Amino acid sequence: MKFQSIVLLIVVMCASSVKNEAIPLEGGRSVDVSDPHVIDIANFAVTEYNKGITLSKLKLVKVIKGESQELSGGINYHLTISASRRFQDIHNQYIHNYETVVLEKPSEHFRNLTSFKSVNA
Ligand SMILES: *[C@@H]1O[C@H](CO)[C@@H](O)[C@H](O)[C@H]1NC(C)=O
Repeated sequence: MKFQSIVLLIVVMCASSVKNEAIPLEGGRSVDVSDPHVIDIANFAVTEYNKGITLSKLKLVKVIKGESQELSGGINYHLTISASRRFQDIHNQYIHNYETVVLEKPSEHFRNLTSFKSVNA
């Protein structure tokens, strides 16, 4: 490989690693990934995401890590989850990680999926 190509490769790798880094929430606290409420929030995110697609819907595998951030009147959950996608024509399932943000207002029984992004490993 030419020197220029190597330099370019390093630049691209650095740029993508910065882009994929989770931005910590201000005042965020890490959550217990086995907390049933956290798992419920993760399932909500997957269910909401699935509403937008017709084929190969996702199924939650597990919550990998997460943070919660208290806001006035609500809590923001920033969760990194692993989910499987099953394709109809093949029997394989494809497991991938996603970063989700869900806003919950417990007093209003309100939840909203704010963000759902694929994490490039
Ligand atoms: C939910 O979040 C999305 C994305 O931030 C936003 O566009 C939408 O207005 C929100 N819905 C409600 C009901 O707040």
